[in-house]
Amino acid sequence: IWTMHNFAEATIADFKERLGGQKVICALSGGVDSSVVALLLHKAIGKDLTSIFVDNGVLRAGEVAEVAGLFRDVFGLNLVVVDAADLFLDRLKGITDPEEKRRIIGHTFIEVFDAEAAKIAGEVQYLAQGTLYPDVIESVSFKGPSAVIKSHHNVGGLPEKMKLKLVEPLRELFKDECREVGRELGLPETIVSRQPFPGPGLAIRIMGEVTRPRLATLREADAIVQEEMRASDLYTKVWQSFAVLVPVKTVGVMGDERTYEDVVALRIVDSVDAMTADWSRVPYEILARLSSRIINEVKGVNRVVLDISSKPPSTIEWE
Ligand code: XMP
Repeated sequence: IWTMHNFAEATIADFKERLGGQKVICALSGGVDSSVVALLLHKAIGKDLTSIFVDNGVLRAGEVAEVAGLFRDVFGLNLVVVDAADLFLDRLKGITDPEEKRRIIGHTFIEVFDAEAAKIAGEVQYLAQGTLYPDVIESVSFKGPSAVIKSHHNVGGLPEKMKLKLVEPLRELFKDECREVGRELGLPETIVSRQPFPGPGLAIRIMGEVTRPRLATLREADAIVQEEMRASDLYTKVWQSFAVLVPVKTVGVMGDERTYEDVVALRIVDSVDAMTADWSRVPYEILARLSSRIINEVKGVNRVVLDISSKPPSTIEWE
């Protein structure tokens, strides 16, 4: 019978036979798909898999340490963590256009990944990717409107450039099946049930220019949103929940002082496939806690607003 337990065992056995002794690379993002792919391959070929995690400077708070700690220290993966934050942030200087941000992040990622892969001893022949069944369908049938409106740069473009053969063990799985495989492989629930996080990361959640101070502000607000959503167990019930840094300052008051500071918007949506979405009816008490924590704890923020737009016509991300 078709269970995710059988799937994991059969895939690992198949990889052992087909890929044993060969060099494989994969881009680990910390998301569930790439994590499952990396673990399947690690269990099959061990150190012949090199997983590359690129710190692009627009990750969430604590992500680098979390991923390195889990995959290198707990699972024992042959993991390369590349600190490319300066390079990415330099190139993002002065850029405000969303598509331009995506292009820069996409190209820089490929460049950094490519350079890292070139350092691996022995010839790398395979690139493993976490393509899911819905991704396959989307790319062979017509491109949905979102594909035209926003370009999604993940690892697309890598295989052609690097002349690598693709290994895509999740091609026949839906997201919930991929999560189940993750559980079978012992991935912690924090990874297995993780909400989608865009490749361009926080760069497309900072309206206007991405600067280090604005990144620091958004990271703090975002961490509070993650924490409160997880604490209330809404985290796994909604599709995505995150903070957006608005490029506007508004007046506030603190003690006897007038303040003039940033606005954070909360974006919390329900969806089944991200093609359509509705804003989540989050209980007022949770919204109240999010608002007061962000305003009290995040320096430079004196106002929190709630995004109550559905997709369409609004998109989930603000850029
Ligand atoms: P939108 O904003 O188009 O987002 O409603 C739909 C889903 O896609 C994610 N998203 C991205 N993911 N690269 C990604 O890897 C991107 O450039 C990108 N833009 C949006 C978004 O988080 C949501 O889950």
